[in-house]
Amino acid sequence: MKFYCKLYRLFILCYSKYRMGEIVDKIKEKAQDVKDTVVDIANLPLKIRILSQKFILELNGALAMENAGIERLQTRISETIVPEARQRMELHMKESLEHQKRLQNLITTLGGVPTQEKLGLPLPSYPQDMFKAMTDTMTRQESELKKGEEDIILEKAEVICYFMLIQKAQKAGGIFLSAVEPLTLNMKDEENMAEWVKTNSPGIMSQLWPKIQPAVVSATSPYLSQSPAQLQ
Ligand SMILES: [Fe+2]
Repeated sequence: MKFYCKLYRLFILCYSKYRMGEIVDKIKEKAQDVKDTVVDIANLPLKIRILSQKFILELNGALAMENAGIERLQTRISETIVPEARQRMELHMKESLEHQKRLQNLITTLGGVPTQEKLGLPLPSYPQDMFKAMTDTMTRQESELKKGEEDIILEKAEVICYFMLIQKAQKAGGIFLSAVEPLTLNMKDEENMAEWVKTNSPGIMSQLWPKIQPAVVSATSPYLSQSPAQLQ
């Protein structure tokens, strides 16, 4: 009986080792697949190599934009006074994290290094005195509307950035065509977000207006009287 038990244990041990070997082989196979999808830049013709480097730079530009956009989105989510806008921004945050991943994958596949840097967002930079007058006199509700205006500007800027990248990938052709699909997915999300902010802005304005109007009426001249922000 003892002999059969030992034989059985030995059989289980051998079988586990065999299965383990099979699993390791499968993992190695998968790793090789991933390695094969990464473009070996050094072996590409010079023209394609230069194009790749340029394209990687452009993709990193888009990634730096997403990195900066995500940071701003975090601030907007924590500061907004409109619940439905917060909810939509939270969804867009998830989408933006996915955009980052797609761009990082594209850059790595082309043999580049994804950036962690953030670019300066394309927002209006007002003259100093105008900006001071605005921030000194704005109510929280007016400030929310101004931020909503900036939301549309940024989302549209992201759409244009992806639109141009897609055009370039299509023009370059060859290995760059694989970038079209992930870039299009990113662009669609940006378009939907821009559309959501635009479509919902009249409703948000109606929601905020009852608090803006009395503050504006009380402050006969925002430059001469008390700031509406102080009247809240
Ligand atoms: Fe966005």
